[in-house]
Amino acid sequence: MPARMLLTIASRLGLAALGTCAVIALSTGASVAQSGAAPAPAPDAAKLSKGKDLFNNYGCGSCHSLADAGASGHVGPAFDGDSNLSEAFVIDRVSNGQGVMPAFGGQMSPEEIAAVAAYINHAAQK
Ligand code: HEC
Repeated sequence: MPARMLLTIASRLGLAALGTCAVIALSTGASVAQSGAAPAPAPDAAKLSKGKDLFNNYGCGSCHSLADAGASGHVGPAFDGDSNLSEAFVIDRVSNGQGVMPAFGGQMSPEEIAAVAAYINHAAQK
């Protein structure tokens, strides 16, 4: 039955072609993600480790606790479990201070404040 055989071959080819398309679609998807075109790229390791150094050098840990930095201060709120935390919120508090919380805007550059905010936001256990 040659007609039926042809049909079988044709449908196998079709399936194979579909499979190839799926593989191509998957692999292009992965390369887009890796190229950094994603809308919210993960903070880079260098920025986070700079933020951790700043956290320690500016004594944030003497008033705040953060397990990742080995900090256990109790003057200000603990960062672990702090649901207020976002990078924008930390940048605002560190730049401008509030109440007993000193403003660091005059001592730290905007890049340093952004790095410490990225670090706290990343390291705090949510
Ligand atoms: C002298 C103690 C002290 C030091 C040093 C200090 N803080 Fe604070 N911080 C506080 C206090 C107290 C508050 C609470 C202020 C308020 O809400 O009235 C606070 C609040 C904050 C908040 C807001 C937390 C929240 O959930 O409301 C952030 C973020 C913060 N500090 C980050 C930092 C960082 C980063 C550093 C180091 C660059 C730092 N702090 C150094 C005492 C301190």
